[in-house]
Amino acid sequence: MKKIARVEDIPVGGTKLVFMNDTPIVLLNIKGKIQAWDNRCPHRGASLADGNILESTIQCKFHLWEFDIELACAVANSDIKVKTFYLKVQDGDIFIQI
Ligand code: FES
Repeated sequence: MKKIARVEDIPVGGTKLVFMNDTPIVLLNIKGKIQAWDNRCPHRGASLADGNILESTIQCKFHLWEFDIELACAVANSDIKVKTFYLKVQDGDIFIQI
């Protein structure tokens, strides 16, 4: 696993874009819980880090698809998944395995 960011780098209810081995990864901070997703929208690859975070969803700004943050899939079709990465938080450091 590799350290990629600190928890305080990501505002609550916000995102941070990082790269690992040239893979763009969006870190999401939802009420203090951190998640790591492939930053490329499953529709046409727009940056999810630029999306709008709502209560339990993130909306891609390009064509307004919404994704359930807990389930990491499209709200309208759960078969459309967002790629996620396993992460671990230790002493405020975020480690990711890809
Ligand atoms: S690229 Fe995200 S909704 Fe189309």
